[in-house]
Amino acid sequence: MLHIIKKTLINFFFFSPLFLISDTKDISIVIHGGAGWFTSMTEEEIEGIEEALNIAADSGYELMLEGGTSLDAVERAIIILEDNPLFNAGRGSVYTSELRQEMDASIMDGSNLNAGAVASITNVKNPIKLARYIMEKTEHVMFSSKGAEKIAIEAGLETVSPSYFYSEEKLQRAKNKIKTNSKKGTVGVVALDAYGNIAAGTSTGGMTNKMPGRIGDSPIIGAGTWAENGVCGVSGTGHGEYFIRLNVAKEICVLMKYEKLDVKKAAQIVIDRLKSMGADGGVIALDENGTPAMIFNTPAMARAYKDSPDYTFVQIYKDN
Ligand code: GLY
Repeated sequence: MLHIIKKTLINFFFFSPLFLISDTKDISIVIHGGAGWFTSMTEEEIEGIEEALNIAADSGYELMLEGGTSLDAVERAIIILEDNPLFNAGRGSVYTSELRQEMDASIMDGSNLNAGAVASITNVKNPIKLARYIMEKTEHVMFSSKGAEKIAIEAGLETVSPSYFYSEEKLQRAKNKIKTNSKKGTVGVVALDAYGNIAAGTSTGGMTNKMPGRIGDSPIIGAGTWAENGVCGVSGTGHGEYFIRLNVAKEICVLMKYEKLDVKKAAQIVIDRLKSMGADGGVIALDENGTPAMIFNTPAMARAYKDSPDYTFVQIYKDN
């Protein structure tokens, strides 16, 4: 009910003369909630993932319609997914082989190529907030572990105890040494705002049963995340070691920038190359006009896209 009232108010706002941004045609947001198999999932879990993607896309899009930036939209949408235990990021992060959670995240501002990243953090409620803080308030790009956690405390960001991340099912998966993250996925968002600025962000708990200290692609600028105004923004999900070696996110943008490939073609080439190396994964991307690409080489990738006030595309599995 609350959702319907909120939608009605938003629709009223869109058509109100008070509405400040008249040209909304380029505003767009694309989201992933992980690539993989999404098998053995209950109907409830599938619906929960779809609903969360919908809410995250609507929320980020509405923020930009109200004049907010793509950076704000990326952060807001990722926070929604980090707070939802159905995703492998923030609260839903998977366990390491020592049965702890270690989270990675990054964010990038395409207007100036500024970036912030965190790796192997254990107690910060929303890693994406810390990545953004590092980008905006320090002269560095990436912090890990205790150093990053110290900054979170100094910044007044919310920290939590291990019980916040507890999940019996994920614990059992780690204890049984299941190395995949096929059931729950990394999250990522790319957005283009009314000012033409592209931003991208990615957040993850990494791979189930990973070795302590292992860092994936999500916090590596150029591998898991890239944003560059006038070219593209990308966020990846999949087997991080391969994304790092192929520099996936930047590679897609390089193909667009220098080879003049369109966003779908560029993303497809890089995802196909990943497959030929034996790696599973996918990417979301936007070009400078907000054209999306949602490309993956797995049976499914939880994904959403929104570029108009009254429709949000949400899908997990491949087209029928
Ligand atoms: N793509 C997430 C990871 O490998 O950590």
